[in-house]
Amino acid sequence: MNRKILLDVDTGIDDALAILTAAVSIRVDLVACTTTWGNVDVDTAARNTATLLELAELDGVPVARGAARPLRGGTPGYAAHVHGADGLGGFGDAGAVPSPTAETAVEMILRLSHEHPGDLHIVAVGPLTNLALALEADPTLPERVPEVTIMGGAFLAPGNATPVAEANIVNDPEAAQRVIDAAWSCTFVGLDVTMRDMLTEQHREALSAGGDIGRFCSDILDYYFDFYLGETGRRCAGNHDALALGVACGKAVVRTAPAVPMMVDTTDGPGRGQTIADLRGIYRGWPDVPGARHRVVLEVEPGYADWMAQLLAAA
Ligand code: BDR
Ligand code: CA
Repeated sequence: MNRKILLDVDTGIDDALAILTAAVSIRVDLVACTTTWGNVDVDTAARNTATLLELAELDGVPVARGAARPLRGGTPGYAAHVHGADGLGGFGDAGAVPSPTAETAVEMILRLSHEHPGDLHIVAVGPLTNLALALEADPTLPERVPEVTIMGGAFLAPGNATPVAEANIVNDPEAAQRVIDAAWSCTFVGLDVTMRDMLTEQHREALSAGGDIGRFCSDILDYYFDFYLGETGRRCAGNHDALALGVACGKAVVRTAPAVPMMVDTTDGPGRGQTIADLRGIYRGWPDVPGARHRVVLEVEPGYADWMAQLLAAA
């Protein structure tokens, strides 16, 4: 399978691994990157994305700047404590210039949806602000983009940004709810699976023995592992964004992903940002709920992180 993929990113360290994996995998035809605020501000996300595409010699892939803040406004909070102030653990290039495009993220998403109707797959791995704005600008978008894969949510697992909420969703719960309400099918790759087949010190060592791309991945992972050491007691990291890409391109083999009704908590209480899905099918072998459009990935075959590390080390 070779899918036309648009990556919507808030380029921090795990986004970087997803971008590089997309860039070097023959399974992916990376047509564009759209950027959003999230791990870093949107300009830094665009600059980091350009840096990575240049490293992968894919500087022809356009990078569009998108939302600078969540739908309901306010001052965005970033994740320097996880990804470093530059989003790439100190390995960003402050002088990088995204390939010039006059288009905004929303314009790029809509144009590409017309150019590749039925064939463009969006993989969104940051807050869902750009997708919500694209749907607002053109509610017919799902007619041309029937499927979206999202890194987001914590369904049976605990949250990471709050006890119950995952970072991408809690960063813009209103946007996430609009994306859920739209008439496309979303596959949610959340913490239930991204915190399982983790990137380890063994993967990092293999990457460090590789070429320029492998060594870069090793460097940024070294930084990322320090954060996860505090979270898990081990030098390892969740493989969040690249696993969503792997699910989208079929390389990460999904074992359990029921179609279920879902919603996001958009209140201002302690549950804000929680993804609430009807997972009562756990007692009945996970039947799809009739009429449900969105899937929650709950189990993936182990081995994707190994494949990824080998691919990036050999690049
Ligand atoms: C998600 O939040 C961001 O910090 C990561 O890049 C990933 O997309 C994990 O919760
Ligand atoms: Ca991300």
